[in-house]
Amino acid sequence: MKLETDVLIIGSGIAGLYAALKVADNLKVIIVTKKDKAESNTNLAQGGIASVLGQNDSFDKHISDTLIAGAGLCKREPVEILVKEGPERIHDLINLGTRFTLKNGQLDLAREGGHSVHRIVHAADLTGHEVERALLESVNSKENITILEDHCAIDLITEHNVYQLKEAVINNRHCWGAYVLDVRDNTVQTVTAKATILATGGLGQVYLNTTNPLIATGDGFAMAYRAGAKLGNMEFIQFHPTAFYSGSINSGASHPSFLISEAVRGFGGILRTKDHNEFMSKYDSRKELAPRDIVARAIDNELKKRGDDYVYLDVTHKPAQEIKEHFPHIYERCLESGIDITKEFIPVVPAAHYACGGVVVDTVGHSSLEGLYACGEVSMTGIHGANRLASNSLLEALVFAYRAALEINRKVTTSKFDIPQIPTWDESGTLSADEKVMISHSFREVKQVMWDYVGIVRSNLRLERAFNRIHNLYLEIEDMYKKTKVFEEILELRNLITCSHAIIKSAMMRKESRGLHYTLDYLKTDESQEPHDTIIQNRIP
Ligand code: FAD
Ligand code: SIN
Repeated sequence: MKLETDVLIIGSGIAGLYAALKVADNLKVIIVTKKDKAESNTNLAQGGIASVLGQNDSFDKHISDTLIAGAGLCKREPVEILVKEGPERIHDLINLGTRFTLKNGQLDLAREGGHSVHRIVHAADLTGHEVERALLESVNSKENITILEDHCAIDLITEHNVYQLKEAVINNRHCWGAYVLDVRDNTVQTVTAKATILATGGLGQVYLNTTNPLIATGDGFAMAYRAGAKLGNMEFIQFHPTAFYSGSINSGASHPSFLISEAVRGFGGILRTKDHNEFMSKYDSRKELAPRDIVARAIDNELKKRGDDYVYLDVTHKPAQEIKEHFPHIYERCLESGIDITKEFIPVVPAAHYACGGVVVDTVGHSSLEGLYACGEVSMTGIHGANRLASNSLLEALVFAYRAALEINRKVTTSKFDIPQIPTWDESGTLSADEKVMISHSFREVKQVMWDYVGIVRSNLRLERAFNRIHNLYLEIEDMYKKTKVFEEILELRNLITCSHAIIKSAMMRKESRGLHYTLDYLKTDESQEPHDTIIQNRIP
């Protein structure tokens, strides 16, 4: 089947939905989304959205906190845009029906690691769920927007599939839409568009332990890479310091680890070793409120040194009523696991949480391919540098989805588009049951390799091992892919492998420790040269 639209948006989290709302007044939009439309990282976000809204806050303070967390790699221009345009986007969310928590009639502002003041707008501890609800309601009321659930984008359409290019022609390549798998009947649709927005979120599922939901298999990074777009700073994977330890975090299951929000530390939570001793003061003067890379590494170090499986997060010194008021969801979820957080310590471990790098875009979300935009977690705007400041991610998605939408409006309404004849998907291939077993096995293998060798602490040897293992898996999956009629799991595995390759390759290129990339072979940040991004680009179409 062939579908035509002005704008194709891949993903229905905060970035995709917000962009859709901002182009739909003038243009026809199709949103394709892999599963149920609410299933996204956005829907799980807890702490909130950082923005300058408090009396004792200022743009300079938010800019400075963001730059400090980013360990010298943030780009000043997009950071200034993010911070200065943030408050307007928050008010727009409120106008769209988002109900944030209020205190004495004003927005209640929380605090998280790396922030010098209280500036996190939130809806109790279920901020993402509330934002997703409000955006979906608005999107549902727009006639110009069609949402296709259970539709998984396979690959972007560019010159390489239209003209069957054998040689790489990277410069001036165009994106004309995507091939999309209708998961319900396994048919492939060709969706052509004047502009395509990747809003596919993160890649936490690359790792064995992650806070990310099952959809986060890095499809957008992988599709963009295969199509020849530039990816940047893929080595900077943020591990959230405090995911709930359920007794078997290394069980191999892909299901997300439950997050204990950073706001719990902002509220006064204290990290303790298993013998109840506080330890963060040994690592950083900001203690529990140091940026995430520092806290996650400190926990990792304590666990390795002591041979423990988890550390504790303690809020028992805070009034029980306040705990329940601020963190009703966390309180309930922990209680279901047998822990009353008003009286008992919470067992926690770090888990893969956020990709700071991604598809390289400019300040209007445009990638290095003509017609391809990216926003939200899949993009690299230059804001996060080597380590994202807590709660800057939802804000980035809003600010840059809005900017991309304005740019697309301008371009689509003022330019002439000549989309060539796009071939339909070649469906040849067969699959035997044996191969399906190989898929689930390879899934586990990728996640284990990445967790063991490309995690919080890296080394040249570990990266080399990971590279070789992932390369073998890459050869196997490519061979299988050529012989197979596509289905969702094979697409996701292929994407996980491509993302792993991109992360390892970028980590190998960075010969220093900086922010989230910490390696035993180069313990220090290289001060002898200007901070630089690691850019990778697929040269083979
Ligand atoms: P997502 O919200 O992940 O949406 C991605 C969409 O793309 C989904 O609809 C998915 O189904 C779809 N998709 C993916 N691949 C395909 C494909 N091949 N075809 C079709 N559709 C596809 N950030 C903050 O700023 N504050 C917080 O408090 C916060 N808390 C968090 C808590 C948790 C547990 C997690 C996991 C993350 C948190 N983050 C937080 C990070 C933040 O939630 C995400 O970075 C952000 O929501 C990403 O939004 P997005 O729109 O880019 O992607
Ligand atoms: C959290 O609530 O700790 C998550 C915040 C974030 O990822 O920015």
